[in-house]
Amino acid sequence: MAVDLKTKEHIRGIRKAGRIVAACHKALSKRIAPGVTTQEIDRFVERFMLDRGATPAQKGYKGYPFATCASVNEVVCHGFPDSVPLETGDIVTIDMVADLDGWKADSAWTYAIGRTTASTEKLLSIAKQAMLDGIKQAVPGNRLGDIGFAVQSRAERAGFQVVTAFVGHGIGRSMHEYPEVVYRGIPGQGIELEEGMVITIEPIITAGRAEVYIGPDGWTASTRDGGWAAQFEHTVAVTKEGPIVLTRWE
Ligand code: MF3
Ligand code: CO
Repeated sequence: MAVDLKTKEHIRGIRKAGRIVAACHKALSKRIAPGVTTQEIDRFVERFMLDRGATPAQKGYKGYPFATCASVNEVVCHGFPDSVPLETGDIVTIDMVADLDGWKADSAWTYAIGRTTASTEKLLSIAKQAMLDGIKQAVPGNRLGDIGFAVQSRAERAGFQVVTAFVGHGIGRSMHEYPEVVYRGIPGQGIELEEGMVITIEPIITAGRAEVYIGPDGWTASTRDGGWAAQFEHTVAVTKEGPIVLTRWE
């Protein structure tokens, strides 16, 4: 396996796809509320992308049937959108990938529905901070272990766990490229990051234990112990000027 290094031109292509994903999350952040269903969110996301000349790259990927993954509460990822209204206090992770002119950009975000508890707020803020800590390490000369270590330390210091069953990935013309980005690690170990790598940083953090199981639909992954999970994901370019977040919207 080899890393597909991107030129500035390639990164511009991914960034254009990333801007659509970012704008879509921004729109969702204002729209997700009690009573909204994940099916409605899925339709909104698909329409949003199509209206901007992009396609939802998850739909049809390895047979995945929807534009988004919608993972509620104890679902860690790859949940199917459905017709159940979101309720006050729930959390939902919306994961989406846009394809624009062949370039892919990937971002997931966990939204709280109305008011949640202090412990849920903490789970969300630590999960986001763990992603941001990982992104800071995405500079040439660092290694994948530096990203994993930063993420894991942030999560575990707060008393949370990192799910190891799912990983980040290179991204570009394909949604999943080499290398795998793992969220545990030893500083200075793993492959070296190079100028032109584009990767996703997308740790999943759980309030309870990190063991997961896949449901009967073959996709939906949930925690074994029923503890809730949060995930924040950005698509990031590794450059000499530092990490560039290609899906930023906040
Ligand atoms: N966006 C997901 C990722 O981060 C992909 C989910 S699998 C799919 O890799 F089938 F839903 F696309
Ligand atoms: Co991803």
